[in-house]
Amino acid sequence: MAQLWGGRFTKETDKLVYNFNASISFDRKFYEEDIEGSIAHVVMLEKQGILTENEKNDIVKGLTGIREDVKNGTLEITDEYEDIHSFVEANLIQRIGEAGKKLHTGRSRNDQVALDMKLYTRAEVVHVAEEVEKLLATLLKLMEEHLDTYMPGFTHLQKAQPVTLAHHMGAYFEMFKRDSLRLKDIYRRMNYCPLGAGALAGTTYPLDRDYTASLLGFEGPTLNSMDSVADRDYLIEFLSALSTIMMHLSRFCEEIILWNSNEYRFVEIDDAYSTGSSIMPQKKNPDIAELVRGKTGRVYGALVSILTTMKGIPLAYNKDMQEDKELAFDAMDTVKGCLALFRGMLETMKFNREVMAASAMNGFTNATDAADYLVGKGVPFRDAHGIIGRLVLYCIEKDTCIDALSIEELKEISPVFEEDIYDAVSLKTCVEKRLTIGAPGQEAMKEVLRRNREFLEAGWLKDKA
Ligand code: ARG
Repeated sequence: MAQLWGGRFTKETDKLVYNFNASISFDRKFYEEDIEGSIAHVVMLEKQGILTENEKNDIVKGLTGIREDVKNGTLEITDEYEDIHSFVEANLIQRIGEAGKKLHTGRSRNDQVALDMKLYTRAEVVHVAEEVEKLLATLLKLMEEHLDTYMPGFTHLQKAQPVTLAHHMGAYFEMFKRDSLRLKDIYRRMNYCPLGAGALAGTTYPLDRDYTASLLGFEGPTLNSMDSVADRDYLIEFLSALSTIMMHLSRFCEEIILWNSNEYRFVEIDDAYSTGSSIMPQKKNPDIAELVRGKTGRVYGALVSILTTMKGIPLAYNKDMQEDKELAFDAMDTVKGCLALFRGMLETMKFNREVMAASAMNGFTNATDAADYLVGKGVPFRDAHGIIGRLVLYCIEKDTCIDALSIEELKEISPVFEEDIYDAVSLKTCVEKRLTIGAPGQEAMKEVLRRNREFLEAGWLKDKA
């Protein structure tokens, strides 16, 4: 048991208490951020005349050595330390002696951990955004390839009107685009440095907080020392954005699972992204899509967990906040993994164009266009709606579709029908005449592609990597 605070205690910590309290098993994940923050801190301390140049140099060298040794595996982070901060400080003192004891001057573990978690999360915001951007690029490519892959569009999971695969993919493009922008926004809002807040009330040392903030790539220092050590809003925002990403992935997965089923056969998931059954030899299951859909729950769980943790704790730091880490780390890793796997599945998936088009042809997806045709011939829309309703009923009874009826049969239902009805309700016309921006018609889609290509090229990650 190695602790930083034995002085005022007369008894050893109970072993179970020690284990319950310790965080090293999970906060070791940000040992690099802890060291990066400490280096910035001592560089500032020296600039302010609080440490000598030699002390600073020794500490920086010691910290850099620890980082390298942990990285290359010669130094192991073991459970004998309470947390990562204790581990680094104890190792530093072992390495460089007396000067190491000055590292923690003008600092508390409260602002230290606030900084570490923020640095770690900030990098993760970028990593997740990179994955989202790659998925957007994949979607854009699929959209370019499938401008004329017709398929049914659904409402209530009932066939509604025909669209294209590009248009359907485009819906997800917009969702993930908003996710990307949410991450950008979170990055901007969280990018203020808590270091120098001390335990809660700042410090009497003449720290230059603006300087440490700039060394660590922050916009500036946070402006209230109590808020600095008590704030986890940025993590809540991030977990909320991650939950929304998972919600989008999960909907997409649900559709792919349906489309991949024998009933739909719109797509075939590649063998490399499917699994078999131990008993049924014929099976090829969409497990990856199901797992992504399933893992959505644990990411929501992380969000609800931290919201609940934070709701009742008085200012400023409380140990409850140590609970911000494990589930958040798990959520970040889960989302990055799901985004990458989902993209791989999408890129290797086969789209059955003929099956999709055939499906779009039946189910009366052209009924609205048939009504619009009558409107074009002067029939008021409400009357046209009624006429086409009767026409659909007639087709259902005869087990046929609108475009398969003869002109005589059509005229019997309404004398307004003429030969040009067949072209007006063809699958191609139904899609290609929908040309308002955001609609599936090719010319409209091309403009959307142009704008979205521009969005991707502008990016927001270029200076962040
Ligand atoms: N392991 C702690 C955490 O994650 C570090 C801060 C400890 N501060 C304290 N006053 N005990 O929150």
